[in-house]
Amino acid sequence: MNAAEPDQTFEDEASLQLNDDGSLRHLLTLKGLDHAMLVDLLDDAESYLTPAGALPARSDALAGRTVANLFFEPSTRTRASFDLAGKRLGADVLNLDVNTSSRKKGESILDTIYTLEAMRCDIMVVRDASAGVPAYIAKHVRDHVSILNAGESDVSHPTQGLLDLLTIRRHKGGFDNLTVAFVGDIRHSRVVRSTAWGLRTLGVGSLRLISPAAMAPDSDDMPFATIVDNLEEGLAGADVVMALRIQRERIGNLDGIPNIDEYFARYGISHERMKLAQPDAIVMHPGPMNRGIEIEGALADSAQSVVTEQVGNGVAVRMAVLERVARSLGNR
Ligand code: CP
Repeated sequence: MNAAEPDQTFEDEASLQLNDDGSLRHLLTLKGLDHAMLVDLLDDAESYLTPAGALPARSDALAGRTVANLFFEPSTRTRASFDLAGKRLGADVLNLDVNTSSRKKGESILDTIYTLEAMRCDIMVVRDASAGVPAYIAKHVRDHVSILNAGESDVSHPTQGLLDLLTIRRHKGGFDNLTVAFVGDIRHSRVVRSTAWGLRTLGVGSLRLISPAAMAPDSDDMPFATIVDNLEEGLAGADVVMALRIQRERIGNLDGIPNIDEYFARYGISHERMKLAQPDAIVMHPGPMNRGIEIEGALADSAQSVVTEQVGNGVAVRMAVLERVARSLGNR
């Protein structure tokens, strides 16, 4: 990919992802999706959840459709859950092995996309390290193809945002009076930029972004949130605490970044520190976790942690998104 190719702005993305009638054509960002759309997606996802031990939900909503997973960055959770979601909805699912694909021989990303389009792939799930790639592709595909953003640089990870919202709603019942605290590498996190925007649209009570100064966001990035550098202050009375991974692959300059021991001592989430939050506060982490750096291992495995629930909810959310875009493909 030529880094100069993607030139989408948020406004382009927000308008590009909706059809003229307001239905979802692509999923590129949670910014610009209204309250009703978010609630509908969470309700649909909820309908795909089954109790632990029961068989997973299935339908034939995507029968005859083909979903292509194109992960140009590593992934475990997102890739596996899109794979399972597509299959449980009856789609054919292609997991392109990027490391042995012709992109390694210099093929452009659009030529890769046009190749898969010619093979009748209807929905392409894209993860890429460069900002703007999912929208750039969405702008160039034909009418009968949908693009789903599966993680874009430090910009956006909309299905992670949706699964976080679903997990919070299932534990807390709603968002109005909640205090949600994100802890860690806010500056380089695409997860926080999706989950926080979704929380804002759903009317969350209060949002705190807790990090060392070198990992804090610009003040105009998420202006509706409070930036805090003291962990104890940020955790006080929180209902939801989400630890974030240090995104080493996106940190160019390590100046001001604490070493691992110092980081855990100052910003690591532990049982002891969670005593500052509400007694029924939940602990979240989008994964992959670095135990002993951003979160104490025993806390991650405790009853207070909903980390594995987040993963399970991810399959349901991706089924809801796939089903919704396939519905609008049916109209074209
Ligand atoms: N949370 C998340 O995106 O995890 P993966 O990188 O494993 O997909």
